[in-house]
Amino acid sequence: MLELQEVSFTIRKDGDDVPLVDRVSIRVPKGHFMAIVGPSGCGKTTLLKTIAGLNPESAGALFWDSRNLSEDGDFSPSEIGYVPQFSIAYDPLTVDESVEAATRLRVRCRDTAELDQRIDQVLEETGLGPISDRQVKVLSGGQKRRLGLAMELVSDPKLLLCDEVTSGLDPRSEREIVRLLHDLSRKDGRIVLSVTHSLAHLELYDSILVLHEGRLAFHGPPEQLTHYFSVSDTEEVYPRLATQPSERWHNSWQKHRESYQKMMEKNRALLVASGDFPTPPAEAIEESETLRLPGFFSQFATLLSRRWRIFFRDRGQVFLQLAIIVCFPILVTIFSDKASGNIRRFSDTRQSERAEIEEKILVSSDQAKVGSAISGIIMFQVVLLSLMGSNNSAREIAGERPIYEKEKFGGLRPSAYLASKVAFLACLVIGQSLWMAFFVNFFGTFRGDFIQHAGFLLLVNAAMTAVCLAISSLMRTAEQASLLSIYLVGFQLPLSGAVLALPENIEAFTRPFISAYWAWSGSVEALQPQVYNAVKSVIDTSLSAREICFYALGAHIAVALIATWAGARRPQWD
Ligand SMILES: Nc1ncnc2c1ncn2[C@@H]1O[C@H](COP(=O)(O)OP(=O)(O)OP(=O)(O)O)[C@@H](O)[C@H]1O
Ligand SMILES: [Mg+2]
Repeated sequence: MLELQEVSFTIRKDGDDVPLVDRVSIRVPKGHFMAIVGPSGCGKTTLLKTIAGLNPESAGALFWDSRNLSEDGDFSPSEIGYVPQFSIAYDPLTVDESVEAATRLRVRCRDTAELDQRIDQVLEETGLGPISDRQVKVLSGGQKRRLGLAMELVSDPKLLLCDEVTSGLDPRSEREIVRLLHDLSRKDGRIVLSVTHSLAHLELYDSILVLHEGRLAFHGPPEQLTHYFSVSDTEEVYPRLATQPSERWHNSWQKHRESYQKMMEKNRALLVASGDFPTPPAEAIEESETLRLPGFFSQFATLLSRRWRIFFRDRGQVFLQLAIIVCFPILVTIFSDKASGNIRRFSDTRQSERAEIEEKILVSSDQAKVGSAISGIIMFQVVLLSLMGSNNSAREIAGERPIYEKEKFGGLRPSAYLASKVAFLACLVIGQSLWMAFFVNFFGTFRGDFIQHAGFLLLVNAAMTAVCLAISSLMRTAEQASLLSIYLVGFQLPLSGAVLALPENIEAFTRPFISAYWAWSGSVEALQPQVYNAVKSVIDTSLSAREICFYALGAHIAVALIATWAGARRPQWD
């Protein structure tokens, strides 16, 4: 039984408490199918989220099988399924792959036979069997809703909450989905609560809950709805609601609720007696073993293999990655021939004053030419790798946030999620950075310690990837995250001091945050003394010791990963 006792959800607005859900009390028995209806903005989604535990109730209490949810712990992830209105599957995957990933993330199966059996059962239950190999992106609206349901049913939840799963569907598909939800409530004593603003097919529900401005106006059998509101057709219920303030509806409901509750209990007893639905004995339901969540490594492996599959299915993304990996180093080599020029040395023998001055001018001119070319080439590599870093991760979390939140609600560990992102991105970072370093080195040898240079290229890409991943996990939308990441890369070059010397007070403030500076400075430090001197002779910027550059980039990566972790743990439902 699900019971709400005087449950409220209040927000603070302009210093006042505003109740979005106000003192709602209901009792819902096992094996029940309930509709939550009401005009737009009346608080249906808010009520559903409060029941799910996504909005902590401000007052009142929720009970599940006489367990007080706020005192004795919330639902376990496998007990509850929540189907939001938005699509919760990845377009490039097939129906079968989506359901398989959902099962692997939520349920610890003994072997692949059990896994397959669960997947097949859910596909059959939701009628998705015949289209299991179709990609999500080609599914119709109704099929997508079925998939959303299937992905929740994998853990066989005893409470299924659905938000507007029929909106936007044609009348036939709508009826099919309502019928499916009805059938799901007839299995293992499952409670199905479905938010809808459609007043069609109400006869399929066991009860209808009418909300008005966050307050309960009615909760009773569907056939009593028109009678209670003194209207001749269900379509007239909403206009009727608007005729008096919600407080009046709430008060009059208080007077009638017990008699309607009894009516529902009687209806249910008749249903059970008629054998319309096979409700197992109450003890059997309560004793049914709660499913165990898969371990960290299992979730990590599922996420990582799914990420690679999505990556390779998205041809545009693969092509872009390849184009970047191939073209960026070529771009650098086009500019690199000047960097290989000779730098004249001072002669050991004493010459006339005039000859010495002439020699000095020639040496300085060589130093200026080669030094600025080498400094520029290194900075060019660093900036291109920063750009790759931001391209790697700016949308990585923000672009799939609703899916991630859903999976977290279903028991996905944020640590497994973060680890899968780090593993996936690390492969990109290593491939991009080392290829850049080797390719450019092949066409014009790095004049110094190549390993150190390659290491700094790797670090700057890793740092920028990590920072943009943090942005991605902290921002609300993928657009915000992309924009911020692009600005961040855009500012690397001017704020690095490698091209323009910055005013000292600004430089001291900005430098610690500019990854490009540390990677550039670290690479310049790796140059042979003569080449290093040539670079020093053309820049106004001070260089930092190799160790400091290394620790600065390490700090960027560490802080960014901590921020990513904080952002990923924080609930971010819309
Ligand atoms: N976190 C929040 N902060 C402020 N206001 C909120 C918040 N969540 C919801 N609201 C407001 O509470 C009211 C109820 O919102 P809710 O989404 O529950 O309505 P609804 O009945 O589901 O509407 P619809 O049928 O359009 O989906 C709306 O006026 C909404 O703007
Ligand atoms: Mg809503």
